[in-house]
Amino acid sequence: MNKIRKAVFPVAGLGSRFLPATKAQPKEMLPIVDKPLIQYAVEEAVAAGITEMIFITGRNKRAIEDHFDTAYELEAELEAANKQALLELVRGVIPKNVTCIYIRQSAPLGLGHAVLCARPVVGNEPFAVLLADDFMDTRPGTAPVLAQMTEVYGYENCSLLAVQDVPRENTRQYGIVRAESYRSNLELVSSIVEKPLPEEAPSTLAVVGRYVLSGAIFEHLENLGAGSGGEIQLTDGIAALMRAERVLAYRYEGQRYDCGSKLGYLQAMAAMGLKHPETAAGFRSFLAQLAKENGHGGT
Ligand code: G1P
Repeated sequence: MNKIRKAVFPVAGLGSRFLPATKAQPKEMLPIVDKPLIQYAVEEAVAAGITEMIFITGRNKRAIEDHFDTAYELEAELEAANKQALLELVRGVIPKNVTCIYIRQSAPLGLGHAVLCARPVVGNEPFAVLLADDFMDTRPGTAPVLAQMTEVYGYENCSLLAVQDVPRENTRQYGIVRAESYRSNLELVSSIVEKPLPEEAPSTLAVVGRYVLSGAIFEHLENLGAGSGGEIQLTDGIAALMRAERVLAYRYEGQRYDCGSKLGYLQAMAAMGLKHPETAAGFRSFLAQLAKENGHGGT
């Protein structure tokens, strides 16, 4: 089967880097301008032709389920006030042909464990994994990152990891691959390690939050013990999978913002604020003003 129909969104994480903002709301609900991070990720999956969205949730994540559900009271009020455009916006959060499935991860045992929680719903078919805090932006006319990957999957028929080069001092934040060049934008992964120290990293090619994985990954995840940080790591599952099947690293076209960090989140907000039709002009002149003030001895 070379069609990817299912996407897994691990959203059980605590979001401790954004406290206190994430004390009572999921980090995946933080907005970039006017849309929550998780909605961007779901839209990316929809654009790749995926119709089953599987969320691996945890405590305090109810807002995600509510976001993708019907909002009766809100819709009734918008309808009564004849606010058609807003009504369409609220109703159109997710296309009608898309199914959302929610699975609770009852303990924070790691990303590999979160993905394994999806096994009863995914079965043995290939599927995508999207980490919503890796926010992906692409130029007009370029396919969204996951759609680029499902297209590659269509002819390569194997697991794919989105990768980008990172500064060596940052290797401890990522899964790092060693890879041999294979064809343009694609490399054959020969080893992968979770969060290595800069001096031990096999390269500076880092995995970012988009994966297309063969259903065989579940068997490997099932047999894993705890890895880096005492958690069941997806990276270790991929390392085991790689010994049995081909895994390719894909250098995607696009700009990634690490919205798991404050700086990355601010950068994403600024980039998108400069593109949003309602804010672009005003925000651009505000930034110009700010730069001018700072250039004249401000802080
Ligand atoms: C996770 C993965 C890591 C990957 C990263 C991408 O780490 O474990 O392999 O490189 O996502 O964002 P986390 O950011 O959850 O610590």
